[in-house]
Amino acid sequence: MSKVLVTGGCGYIGSHTIVSLLSEGHEVISIDNLTNSYIESLAGIKKITGQDVINHNIDLCDGPAVDAFFSQHDDIDAIIHFAALKAVGESVKEPLRYFQNNVDSLLHVLKGAEKTGVKNFIFSSSCTVYGQATDLPVTEDTEMKEAESPYGRTKQIGEQILKDLSTHTDLNVLSLRYFNPAGAHPTTHIGESARTPALNLVPVITETAAGKRKECTVFGADYDTRDGSCIRDYIHVVDLADAHRLSVEYLLNGKNDSSYEVFNLGIGEGVSVLEAISAFEKVSGKKLNYTIGPRRPGDVIAIYSNYKKAKDRLGWNPKYGVDDIMSTAWDWEVKRPY
Ligand code: UD1
Repeated sequence: MSKVLVTGGCGYIGSHTIVSLLSEGHEVISIDNLTNSYIESLAGIKKITGQDVINHNIDLCDGPAVDAFFSQHDDIDAIIHFAALKAVGESVKEPLRYFQNNVDSLLHVLKGAEKTGVKNFIFSSSCTVYGQATDLPVTEDTEMKEAESPYGRTKQIGEQILKDLSTHTDLNVLSLRYFNPAGAHPTTHIGESARTPALNLVPVITETAAGKRKECTVFGADYDTRDGSCIRDYIHVVDLADAHRLSVEYLLNGKNDSSYEVFNLGIGEGVSVLEAISAFEKVSGKKLNYTIGPRRPGDVIAIYSNYKKAKDRLGWNPKYGVDDIMSTAWDWEVKRPY
């Protein structure tokens, strides 16, 4: 049995990944300072898996505290590093906060890994590293353009630090580039519950339908796409979680060809904003109150993935489509206790 440290373990993708790891017999320990998550997610994990997870409430920007954690935990086999700030718009307003938080925390965790001899590291990256991609679908070989936001830049910087480290030390790294994670665990015991107001499309849709906000604005319907709205690759959070567990097993079993590898995690299907709204209306049976508004600055017109590499190398087969994403997100919205 392997022991996996999950940073950001109480958060949205972190909590679903813990469920996947526990379900396959891995031992998990979490670090999360709950700035954008709730400790209650651990109770949800327990309801699904029957297992308790210990969370350490540590700010990863606090170097001595991270150091102290690693002094007491020298038996970790792999680290999945989720903990980070992730709002694109906020990063444009507060770039220094984003650089400091996302880079400092990564460096502190890496120092702890080095000190205790952890050899396997999985980095939570994003399709945002591709910038305004012109050739679709994007593959792992698609060139990285300029980042569209400081948030995107922190992901590019993180990947570069890890690539260099994997070249010059014995650390094995996988950078997982997510497309648009959405949906919730089918049991509805865990789901997306950020402390900051929802800005992403799927929670905006479900919160509008639940009456928590007045309306949903479609940011632009005059793009050069099939219905004028932007196209994204929505990936169910349970599929994404399974990809993380498979990544841990891939590294632990030494299946990697090189010490630094990148995987795209999307399902390869472009869905427009208006198609996503239709899917929601179909599965929920509710009419969504939405209007067409102006374009949102910084939006990429269309981006979707090719996940052949993750399928071939990790053995990853995503099971869910946009209808499942909408139905589980809606079930969670109706039931969510926090
Ligand atoms: C972006 C980043 C992603 C990052 C995420 C975090 C890119 C390509 N992706 O995702 O890496 O993790 O932010 O927040 O940069 N929309 C509306 N109305 C709304 C909300 C969204 O029309 O109220 C539209 C957007 O214009 C976009 C689509 O829905 O076309 C998806 O938006 P969103 O869910 O915010 O995610 P991204 O911006 O694609």
